[in-house]
Amino acid sequence: MTATYDFGGRRAIITGGAGGLGRGMAKALMDAGAEVELWDMSASALAQARSELGPTVSVREVDITNVAAVEHAADTVFAGGRVDILVNNAGVLGEVKPVWETSPENFQRVLQVNLFGAYLVTRAVVGRMRAQAARHTTKNPHPLRGHVVNIASIQGKEGMAMAAAYSASKAGLIALTKSVAKETARDGIIVTAITPAAAETAMAKEISAERRADILGRIPMGRFVEIEEVARMVLWLSSDECSFSTGGIFDLSGGRATY
Ligand SMILES: NC(=O)c1ccc[n+]([C@@H]2O[C@H](COP(=O)([O-])OP(=O)(O)OC[C@H]3O[C@@H](n4cnc5c(N)ncnc54)[C@H](O)[C@@H]3O)[C@@H](O)[C@H]2O)c1
Repeated sequence: MTATYDFGGRRAIITGGAGGLGRGMAKALMDAGAEVELWDMSASALAQARSELGPTVSVREVDITNVAAVEHAADTVFAGGRVDILVNNAGVLGEVKPVWETSPENFQRVLQVNLFGAYLVTRAVVGRMRAQAARHTTKNPHPLRGHVVNIASIQGKEGMAMAAAYSASKAGLIALTKSVAKETARDGIIVTAITPAAAETAMAKEISAERRADILGRIPMGRFVEIEEVARMVLWLSSDECSFSTGGIFDLSGGRATY
């Protein structure tokens, strides 16, 4: 039995949308009828994503750490109509070293992209989402204005040796999720986060074979999460089915998280 969704008439923004998880989520949303726009700082990755996903996907070169660029992108997208879904997915891993060997520039950069960038995009998009009309659906008598899904990480819950900046940034993203959810709870804007374990994307390829084996050993199911499994959870969290869970942090760790 599989769940199917109808996202016809819905518009979504996915940051870091040209990356491994971003493309997977874009495909799932597009297959379900959504109009999707990818925001990414890499022009070449965006071109690659477009050739994979087809010409109906919109792509926009945006550095999410740049206030003016994010505001301009949000203005342009909302000028074309409402935005129903925001997936804050752009992220970088940074140095994989014990904290005393890391550079302060690395710590700042990782926090800048993973947390400050997500904050800037949330600020721009949620502010505009609040001004759009709420959707009444027959299934859900409580009107909704939109859904925001933040891609955090199991490392933000548990912490992870050799990835202090990354783990701290994702813990911050979890707290950002909970806070914004409380602010928008009466606006019909649902804000959630997911905490995936490792997936086979470019990010996973940045680590050594030894660390990869260590990470795999921590996952009771004994495997990495499939990109499609991440996409399926994001579909539910972006849909009208998700109407009373806001501020929730959804596990996707094959049993690694016990809370
Ligand atoms: N792959 C994993 O194992 C894993 C596990 C848990 C969580 N995550 C999270 O999932 C998200 C996606 O990761 P992925 O595995 O697809 O990585 P990826 O490296 O394939 O994709 C990340 C994308 O973000 C873009 N990006 C980076 N900095 C940006 C910026 N300043 N502005 C705009 N775009 C920027 C990159 O160009 C890239 O296309 C990340 O937030 C990551 O932390 C990944």
